[in-house]
Amino acid sequence: MTTNQNNAWWKEGIVYQIYPRSFQDTSGNGVGDLKGILQRLDYIKSLGVDIIWLNPVYESPNDDNGYDISDYQNIMAEFGSMEDFDSLLKGMHDRGLKLVMDLVVNHSSDEHKWFQESRKDRNNPYRDYYHWWPAEKGTPPKRWSYFDVEENAWKYEATTNAYYLHYFSVKQPDLKWENPALRQEIYTMMAYWFEKGVDGFRMDVIPFISKDTNYPELPPEFNGDFISYYAQGPKLHEYLQEMHSEVLSKYNVMTVGEAPGITIEKALDLVGENRKELNMFFHFDLMSLDRKPGTVFEKNPEGWPLSSFKEIHSRWDKAFEKDGWGSVYLSNHDFPRSVSRWGNDHPDFWYASATMLHTFLLTMRGTPYFYFGDEIGMTNIRFDRIDQYRDINTINRYEIAKNKGEDLHVFMENEKDTSRDNARTPMQWDVSHAAGFSKTTPWIEVNQNFTKGINVADQEKNPSSVLHFFRKATALRKNHLGLIYGHYTLIDPKNESVYAYTRSYETKVYLILLNFSTLEAQVALGDLSELPKSLLLRNTHQEIKAENLLAPYEARVYLVQ
Ligand code: NOJ
Repeated sequence: MTTNQNNAWWKEGIVYQIYPRSFQDTSGNGVGDLKGILQRLDYIKSLGVDIIWLNPVYESPNDDNGYDISDYQNIMAEFGSMEDFDSLLKGMHDRGLKLVMDLVVNHSSDEHKWFQESRKDRNNPYRDYYHWWPAEKGTPPKRWSYFDVEENAWKYEATTNAYYLHYFSVKQPDLKWENPALRQEIYTMMAYWFEKGVDGFRMDVIPFISKDTNYPELPPEFNGDFISYYAQGPKLHEYLQEMHSEVLSKYNVMTVGEAPGITIEKALDLVGENRKELNMFFHFDLMSLDRKPGTVFEKNPEGWPLSSFKEIHSRWDKAFEKDGWGSVYLSNHDFPRSVSRWGNDHPDFWYASATMLHTFLLTMRGTPYFYFGDEIGMTNIRFDRIDQYRDINTINRYEIAKNKGEDLHVFMENEKDTSRDNARTPMQWDVSHAAGFSKTTPWIEVNQNFTKGINVADQEKNPSSVLHFFRKATALRKNHLGLIYGHYTLIDPKNESVYAYTRSYETKVYLILLNFSTLEAQVALGDLSELPKSLLLRNTHQEIKAENLLAPYEARVYLVQ
């Protein structure tokens, strides 16, 4: 059976996400830069990926590492210049790689000239580029902020006796999309990058852009869940359709929205092909699977059941069975490392679980997104001290915990498994100083396991490395359209050790078996056990004892004959 198969480059491509600050420093300031990425393009190409997503590289005071933009049409000096950017884009295109940039337009930096003007006086032409609440109306209704030590998204400014809205830090004021002049500025800016040849945007918290400017109390049906409320602004779809007709429709580009708060029931409103809004989005169902219910940043000590992991992916696959398209990811710059989170980074299981997870992402329908370093199995750093952290999220929440008199040891233990900085440590290239990332002291510590085989140079030399496996697995996806477009069917859904599924496409059926446990595990293959199969990919050389029996973290891909 074949479904949902309007072929597109962004459906067939594999995405490689780069956090520029942590990839390769060439200028010697301890911070990664654009020249560093340029230098590494042959390596990236060799991975078999097609699309590079760059986290923000625009001018920014770096309160939130570039997610607070002070000039959308300039490059952050620490990262290089516009000439460097142009060379990088050319270098990518010369190699057949596409570039997707980050679009951060729910908010700007407070150092952006629009906000500098806006805060000056109530009659300033830029006043209405941001959300202001005049203090004579009293205290504004509660809004929760991700990155505020008081968890308060309204900040009072004496200059104009008003509060401004910031869903993120105080240095990230929310832009007012209700103002058509602001929207035009954004579309013009987007066109500027498309004219340069950029191939698409990953849109930061895009469902949050529309707001009810009466700023009512949180409606009771949201049960205190501000994130869902933020994602359901009244004009979200109107704005996205306008953005599509004004800019996106004019270019052959890809769009992927970061979409916290968007539920599966609303999925096709954003990405249905006739909607003319976005191509894909990242949902957060998996990202909350290992969190304490009702919390965003706290790990659930009870762990997570594989049956739920499977159920989430099966449900979302179904949502896009006939329309729209999914995106599948296990990690990014906002979450810990995938092998430490979904696999097992103990030396006994590290190789098998890292490669098993690669097999998973590369055999699912939906565009797969890999985060830099996952191809060599980089792991969580697990900092012991608060001064080792750089992330505003961990640092602010530490302050909150301290102010509330909470147990800071418990806090620090939680961060070892959940902090975003786990994924932001420098790329591990070789065994030289700072893992070859920088000649000086990096902005954040390097994970010392670079000396123990978790680096590119060592893995290049070792044919049975995570890196070599990654290349085999990307090549497999490339050579089998069925792994991209094929119909997905879950097998043995309640099995808490093995994730098994088929992908069927035209006359072909692929069978994927993934052991997510530290023990040998069996899977019930039903009718499929009768049929002859050829093995296309496997992550171990151990003898196969039985077709339905897998070694710890073993992964197999069969073609059913
Ligand atoms: C989501 C981004 O991925 C994250 O890194 C950032 O802190 C917030 N949005 C605010 O821009």
